[in-house]
Amino acid sequence: MTLTSPITLRDLTLRNRTVVAPMCQYSSIDGFANDWHFAHLSRFGIGGFGLVIFEATAVVPEGRITYGDLGLWKDEQIAPLARIVDFLHSQGAAAGIQLAHAGRKASTPVSWRSEEDLQTEEQRRAAGYEHWQPVAPSAESHSPDDPRFQVPLALDKAGIDRVIRGFVDSTIRSEKAGFDTVEIHAAHGYLLNEFLSPLANHRTDEYGGSLENRMRLLLEVTEAVRAVWPAHKPLLVRISVSDNAEGGWTTEDSVVLARELKARGVDAIDCSSSGFAQGRISYAASYQVPFARAVKQGADIPTMAVGLLGDVDAAEAIIANGDADFIALARGALNDPNWPVHAERYLGDKAYELWPVQTRRVSEHDRVLGLQAS
Ligand SMILES: Cc1cc2nc3c(=O)[nH]c(=O)nc-3n(C[C@H](O)[C@H](O)[C@H](O)COP(=O)(O)O)c2cc1C
Repeated sequence: MTLTSPITLRDLTLRNRTVVAPMCQYSSIDGFANDWHFAHLSRFGIGGFGLVIFEATAVVPEGRITYGDLGLWKDEQIAPLARIVDFLHSQGAAAGIQLAHAGRKASTPVSWRSEEDLQTEEQRRAAGYEHWQPVAPSAESHSPDDPRFQVPLALDKAGIDRVIRGFVDSTIRSEKAGFDTVEIHAAHGYLLNEFLSPLANHRTDEYGGSLENRMRLLLEVTEAVRAVWPAHKPLLVRISVSDNAEGGWTTEDSVVLARELKARGVDAIDCSSSGFAQGRISYAASYQVPFARAVKQGADIPTMAVGLLGDVDAAEAIIANGDADFIALARGALNDPNWPVHAERYLGDKAYELWPVQTRRVSEHDRVLGLQAS
């Protein structure tokens, strides 16, 4: 098995193991995809990625991290997403969508927009500015000293049902948009992760306390999503394998969770980490690969590795060693949207077949400059 070998999950075959990890663009108004999203995502199809996962897409409006997030809570939001999916398909890439709810980390500012940019009603309308009350398992701020985060309302049973319904309805819309796979976002300290983690979940009902209770909401969401997502299409879940914090969620918990997810029809686990204010981890190349390996070995399920994976030899080794089944890039893909075609060139591809026909004269450029593998 190599980086460039195809892989099949259910009826979906990816042309290689390279994946664009979901990346919020904070560039929507009222949740709609626009030309920015088209250009940003299309280049990864041109660049040869096997799967392009669209950014965290809110299943209900209050589940957005910011007012600029993508959303799929109404039918009108389907068409602009479908346009991008169609283009990716025309380039031989598969398209995935990360369905998300930000929980208590919702309604935060867009980092690059200052308060001066939002002073007049006209400015706010042009930016699509909105502000709302976040919800969470417990009424505790993500970070009490940080004014960007509000104290959320604790969800009651009706609120929990609304979350599940939101995931189900957005999944049905994802199918209508033509997506090949859905990824449930249960990582990074957002709503589903908040329910999982003892750092954020202090409920005393059946959704809090024991590991079984804390897993309940994610497992209910997964069952409900799987029930409406076509049986021939794979379902992914992104988790924070460890909170990297004392008293938090652990890798051992993730192995238990991954087994439960697998039993409910999840086809691969996207292995990230952290998301709570208490979490600490040192960043280095391939820093989260041990999480992907632990979940793959412990739960016998395909995994996606992510986190500073741009080195081709290292990525090849991760696949060849069986540490993970997919290599996902976020910042590395922004840096080089052509990373897969460049990786294939580096690995000895002389045919340039992964390059779109319109671009294959790159081979002349490479030959003259001595960039082709010998
Ligand atoms: C601009 C940006 C936006 C991101 N948005 C998301 C997101 O929508 N959902 C998510 O799960 N992770 C998100 N992440 C995290 C990435 O998917 C990825 O896990 C992380 O950046 C580590 O991979 P990298 O080292 O290749 O960047 C984002 C990262 C970046 C840089």
